[in-house]
Amino acid sequence: MNLSPRDLLDHLIIDSKGQDKDSVVMVGNDFIVAGSETSASTLELLLMFMINYPEIQEKMAGELESVVGLGNRATVAHRSKCPYTNAVIKEVMRIMPVLPLGLPRQAKESIIIADKYYIPKGAMVMINQRALHHNSDHWTNPDEFRPERFLVEDVNHNDYLQSFSCGPRNCVGQILALDEMFVGCANIVNRFKVNSIDGQPVNDEELFGLVITPNQFQVCLKARS
Ligand code: HEM
Repeated sequence: MNLSPRDLLDHLIIDSKGQDKDSVVMVGNDFIVAGSETSASTLELLLMFMINYPEIQEKMAGELESVVGLGNRATVAHRSKCPYTNAVIKEVMRIMPVLPLGLPRQAKESIIIADKYYIPKGAMVMINQRALHHNSDHWTNPDEFRPERFLVEDVNHNDYLQSFSCGPRNCVGQILALDEMFVGCANIVNRFKVNSIDGQPVNDEELFGLVITPNQFQVCLKARS
């Protein structure tokens, strides 16, 4: 039979031959739960930062105009040609990770880390990504929103950027999520100037829930001509 998967869930169903239906449903559910709110909130945070940092928004719009063309549709194929836009996305995920504590893990065996931290077998371990992202040992002026930090070639910040966590059980949707972020924000910023409705910065205090979200704000989109 010739099967043409339309999306991730079709792939999951087709590739799961031999597995019971419940595990397919549970993995599908994991994907929907883990992949929806995280991506949606990151995109909302991106819009919030675009409103509050108009000069960064304009720099990003300039890059998109030269790579994608004003008003054209941005696709995943444009992503590797837009270093500034990628740096903005990384910077949003650094300064306000939507999962600041990642997911809980359990130590399989007792271990001493860096000669001073004893983690007993069975202990629950969570990585404080937010603290890592704001640690001044690794980042210059960590509380400052400055995408340019990711364009400095002699600094490898990726070791300390853990928005998707690390290790063999890190986020399986990482590449999809970065593509989604790019296509989502590039298509908005390439076509519209994003502003608040009163021209003032919006409240940038985050709300805690299943994931971090921004306070509700209204967006005014003005077509770029
Ligand atoms: C901006 C978007 C996203 C962020 C910030 C994010 C972040 C994370 C983080 C921090 C973890 C925990 C990893 C760990 O504890 O080691 C995780 C796990 C996971 N993510 Fe994502 N994620 C995003 C989007 C997605 C998408 C789009 C999908 C799939 C469609 C996805 C699927 C998953 C799954 C299935 C897990 C559990 C992995 C496991 O336990 O083996 N995520 N994600």
